[in-house]
Amino acid sequence: TSPLVVAIDGPSGSGKSSTSRGVAERLKLAYLDTGAMYRAMTWALLEQGVDLSDADAVAVAAEKVTLESGIDPQDPTIHVDGTDVAEPIRSEEVTGSVSLVAAVPRVREILVDLQRSTIASSAGIVVEGRDIGSTVAPDAPVKIYLVADPAARAARRAAETGAVDATATQEALARRDEIDSTRATSPLAKPDGAVVVDSTYLTLDEVIDAIVSIVDTAT
Ligand code: C5P
Repeated sequence: TSPLVVAIDGPSGSGKSSTSRGVAERLKLAYLDTGAMYRAMTWALLEQGVDLSDADAVAVAAEKVTLESGIDPQDPTIHVDGTDVAEPIRSEEVTGSVSLVAAVPRVREILVDLQRSTIASSAGIVVEGRDIGSTVAPDAPVKIYLVADPAARAARRAAETGAVDATATQEALARRDEIDSTRATSPLAKPDGAVVVDSTYLTLDEVIDAIVSIVDTAT
């Protein structure tokens, strides 16, 4: 039988990562952060000095990058060719370029393959991203589309990064959403059959509770 997959998609700053980890811990499932994989790929290409506006060059260089994701929700890890990149993938440089890399179809093929084999080798897993319910795991028995008002998302993201300018953060999020939602290959959108959860007025625990009961009802 195939493993239980809980697909959690949504825009940046909707609380996906904390929520997904919390749900995985509560349900004793593994956890995969696919955004970290796109970030790690972006970090690797920046390190190599690849021109990220050259989609062909990005596609060629991406073939040779080896990514490894640790799927313990208490300690998710990400390595590129053996190097721990958990910290540098959160830099402004990576955050500012990741949507460009994620729009390259070959990059998506490579990472979707990797995500599918990670899912298949797990006993049950919460997977967060932008295209999990639509493309990576369209047969997932539970699909969540997690949203929040732009101002709430920017405030959360600013609190995470220590940014003082919440307006600039909101603009940066809006830019990334725009690229993510309008790209040709698996754009960010609510997948068919997904349950929309709005985290704007909920605490983290309330969002986790809501999703855990959706999983309990569905399985
Ligand atoms: O979730 P996070 O903000 O870390 O994702 C970083 C970027 O990776 C997103 O803005 C998006 O461009 C890309 N991404 C994607 N598909 C996914 C996960 C992330 O295109 N499944």
